[in-house]
Amino acid sequence: MKTYKQTGTEAVYPLRAQDAWLGEIGKLYDRMSGVWCADTCAPRLRQEWSPDNPTLGQCSVTAFLVQDYYGGRVMGIPTSDGHFHLYNEWQGRTADLTSAQFGKNYPRGAAVPQSRENHFSDPEKRDRYELLKRRLEALRPSRPLWHGEPESELCELYGLMTATDNPVSVLANTASFLYTRRERINWAGFYLVRRGELQLGPFSGKPACVRIAKGRGVCGTAFAEDRTVRVPDVHAFPGHIACDGASRSELVVPLHRRGRVWGVLDLDSPVPDRFTPEDQDSFENLCAMLEGVLG
Ligand code: SME
Repeated sequence: MKTYKQTGTEAVYPLRAQDAWLGEIGKLYDRMSGVWCADTCAPRLRQEWSPDNPTLGQCSVTAFLVQDYYGGRVMGIPTSDGHFHLYNEWQGRTADLTSAQFGKNYPRGAAVPQSRENHFSDPEKRDRYELLKRRLEALRPSRPLWHGEPESELCELYGLMTATDNPVSVLANTASFLYTRRERINWAGFYLVRRGELQLGPFSGKPACVRIAKGRGVCGTAFAEDRTVRVPDVHAFPGHIACDGASRSELVVPLHRRGRVWGVLDLDSPVPDRFTPEDQDSFENLCAMLEGVLG
């Protein structure tokens, strides 16, 4: 039942940052498996619907739901029983979340664009679509993720975070992303707790000190006190460890697993007072996302 048809080379991300939690379209199939149900299945197929065949009768409501979050066009292929099988299309890429119901008998034929107004003129179908959307929305994380950042980029970051289950790869790409895509940052990376101290993890920027004792510097303070430390002027912070002489302000956010700090995100800026309280909130949310992804 894990057939999921997707073609094309460009990844498709949600249009809006508040939907970044959905991740790249390829991630949506597994999430939807717990969202599709008999009540969202087309009535003519409902008797046959089961959790073992979750995509049965879900194509049109799913395709319009996907369009809400990911944009693109909804296309339909005529089926032998006089209906259309609907899927999603973006320039150069298609995604069909409900292909599994057909097994080897995927419908052939020329696809034609489908209109939302046409399908939803049937109130029964509209109700099912709204139910499906409510069931998906119930999974939405409760905190807003971002403040004032370019939305598509943050969706891309979530895509990077969920592209692998290797934590080193996830941290390395996150560090590189923050270093290359956020402005006025001269060091972005992670220190990880090892043998009771912080040791250098994946980062982007100049080579940095490899060990920081608990309680020392900005990072060691964030670790020891388990709190975000936002430093507008590093020269005024007692015990600040200067890895890059250009650094003027710094933000360090602890990362947790099972209630314990296992590392910190460290961001340095060459600009005094670079990190606002809103930035702090955004980067704390990013760390919460990382905690979720890395489990
Ligand atoms: N400034 C940090 C040390 C790490 S480097 O900035 C990368 C601190 O005082 O903990």
